[in-house]
Amino acid sequence: MISMRSSLSALLLWSVVPLIPVASAGECSYGDIPQIIAHTGEPVGREEKYNGVNLYISEPGCENPKVGVLYLTDVFGIQLLENKLLADSFARAGFLVVAPDLFDGEPAPADFGTPGFNITDFILKHGPNATDPIVDVGLAYLGETGVDKIAATGYCFGGRYAFRLLAAGKGVDAAFAAHPSLLEDREITAVTNPISVAAAESDTTMSPERRSQIEALLADTKKPYQVNLYSGTSHGFGVRANVSDPQQKFGKESAFSQAVRWFEAWAGGAL
Ligand SMILES: *[C@@H]1O[C@H](CO)[C@@H](O)[C@H](O)[C@H]1NC(C)=O
Ligand SMILES: *[C@@H]1O[C@H](CO)[C@@H](O)[C@H](O)[C@H]1NC(C)=O
Ligand SMILES: *[C@@H]1O[C@H](CO)[C@@H](O)[C@H](O)[C@H]1NC(C)=O
Repeated sequence: MISMRSSLSALLLWSVVPLIPVASAGECSYGDIPQIIAHTGEPVGREEKYNGVNLYISEPGCENPKVGVLYLTDVFGIQLLENKLLADSFARAGFLVVAPDLFDGEPAPADFGTPGFNITDFILKHGPNATDPIVDVGLAYLGETGVDKIAATGYCFGGRYAFRLLAAGKGVDAAFAAHPSLLEDREITAVTNPISVAAAESDTTMSPERRSQIEALLADTKKPYQVNLYSGTSHGFGVRANVSDPQQKFGKESAFSQAVRWFEAWAGGAL
């Protein structure tokens, strides 16, 4: 359990999000996962423009966080409330969190059937050629904050980029991806650091066959890896689970816990 101290930052966070404990001042560590993850409420982070990219930044209520987390969203972007709240949850776990606006203010609409929206076009427009430079700006921002290590967490669309950030020379120490989409074999074989994956039971972008292939490719990398499958979940559950459904709530919270523990172990030196 984390100890609560009446530090100013903790008080400020408490005043905005009552009943959710934060990492205690002076000590970046995480507490009881179901208590630090927020599914509803007001975001506590801020937005800041850096090198032309809008960043959502959420700071932990502790001093000198050692690990920064680059949060890479699904196609709904940092504009989606659940993405901001999950980024805040990582901050409460003791990480300095930065989430770049991957779609420059124009994320996909909640309903892909919205007139005028074409998901195929959207994916083509936001390929690695457009997305890598935005991700790199978030990475550069984290690099200047003074954190010792950097971890990446990605969801659906962003999951692929969490993998890409583990390629040699990127400087990312560990990554987590929930139900990554569009992931290519060469992006898996290129990882040079530990990677953890959360998979949904029902996911057309990651079928059971594809999941097995990913596991085999990860085993070949000889790096620490983990692939967890959550029953009763579908694509997107890591962010947009229906938390009224006990299995989905458990899946989302456990995937978050999986990421936090992975980062503590492979970037935070907890082992
Ligand atoms: C969506 O875009 C793709 C690629 O540009 C195109 O082939 C397809 O016809 C479009 N679909 C609709 C419904 O306009
Ligand atoms: C990336 O490539 C796509 C498809 O060729 C193109 O539509 C888009 O404009 C490119 N974006 C950038 C930033 O180069
Ligand atoms: C969410 O889950 C609850 C409990 O299973 C269910 O009653 C509700 O219809 C679900 N909501 C949506 C939008 O699927």
